[in-house]
Amino acid sequence: MTREKVLQFPPGFLWGTATSPTQVEGHIENEWTNFTAQDGGHCRIACDHYHRYPEDIDWMARLGTNAYRFGLEWSRLQSAPFAPLNPTELARYVDLLDQLKAKNITPMVVLHHFSNPPWINAAGGWTNVATIPAYVDFVRQLVAALKEKVYLWNTFNEPDTYACVAYLLGGFPPQRKWKLGQFRKVIDHMARAHVQASRLIRREGDAGRKPEVGIAKNWTFFHAYKRFSPWDRATALACHYTFNKFVLDAFLGGGRRRASTFIGLNYYGRVRFHHFRAMIPASGTSVKTLKDFGFVCDDMVERYPAGMVKILAYLHRKFRLPIYITEHGAASHDENFREHDLRENLAALHGAMAGGVDVRGFFYWSLLDNFEWQFGYTKKFGLLAVDFADEKLPRTLKPLAEVYARICRDHFIQG
Ligand code: FCB
Repeated sequence: MTREKVLQFPPGFLWGTATSPTQVEGHIENEWTNFTAQDGGHCRIACDHYHRYPEDIDWMARLGTNAYRFGLEWSRLQSAPFAPLNPTELARYVDLLDQLKAKNITPMVVLHHFSNPPWINAAGGWTNVATIPAYVDFVRQLVAALKEKVYLWNTFNEPDTYACVAYLLGGFPPQRKWKLGQFRKVIDHMARAHVQASRLIRREGDAGRKPEVGIAKNWTFFHAYKRFSPWDRATALACHYTFNKFVLDAFLGGGRRRASTFIGLNYYGRVRFHHFRAMIPASGTSVKTLKDFGFVCDDMVERYPAGMVKILAYLHRKFRLPIYITEHGAASHDENFREHDLRENLAALHGAMAGGVDVRGFFYWSLLDNFEWQFGYTKKFGLLAVDFADEKLPRTLKPLAEVYARICRDHFIQG
């Protein structure tokens, strides 16, 4: 009989869940409002977290999580550049923060997650350099309003994914294709905005507890399916260069590193290329076909827990900043698969920490089944299921939620 090891996580480690406004809130006026997803779905009601956040916070407490990463939706809070924040909408977010506090749940707030106010989009979105001061003003007002309640700030969620899917692949609004110049501009402007906003948060956001600030970088490994295929290797290398190296350098290269106090890492897995094709379910190849190739995939990408150790070690060596896993999760109807994926990735995370990487927390994507952007409601990432056919949108615990609750309570997993 093999004895399982106990993999203990340190005291104070944050065990959280994550969501984003467009995906869960509903009643939103941004570029996604009139967007129809591949399954015909839209985000106009989504999970109605906008009204049901008290219930959702109760669920978080039932899960035993001690942290929640969520977004403050810019389009709700400001109606024009440099306008004062909308007091009613701000009060709602304040109430959400107070309710989290009452349940001892630490908030990490995200200031940009794939959406902009209509007036920003009308002026060219992040391709326009004028978006930088507009965003920094939004952040300044938020920091003044919320610094007593928030110390963990996430400036941008996955700028790489946003710029890629909106300006290269055409999947997100404004659905442009192969606009490499615009892709680079968006990254450059967001990176500059990140540096300015981070300095501001650190300067003006200290209300007793030092603020922490960073981006959330999505890290995908890009590999060739056949190691000796020059074409597949070239494709993988080009993706790695564009989405990993170029983006990391823009946000954290040189003196810019000093603006951040942490790195947020969203880690899901890898993409392998075969005859120029991305071999993942998100690009249209079925999980079953990929299985025949020997790939283990959720409904989105290939799983690659070994990569969790590699990327953590790399970021640690390169930047020497604390890290939060700001997202990890799996989309599948198979809860055993999702449990296995979670355990493997947490074991890898633990291994990296045992090797000296300073990881401060883990946020499961996602609390709820939700509106998964261009895929609509077909990708089931939630710890809680939401019955979208019932207008009351009832939530129910899935088996993985029980597993995660145990981990949050015990602070260890069996390895
Ligand atoms: C990440 C996004 C998040 C969600 C998950 C599945 O790339 O940040 O909004 O779409 O993937």
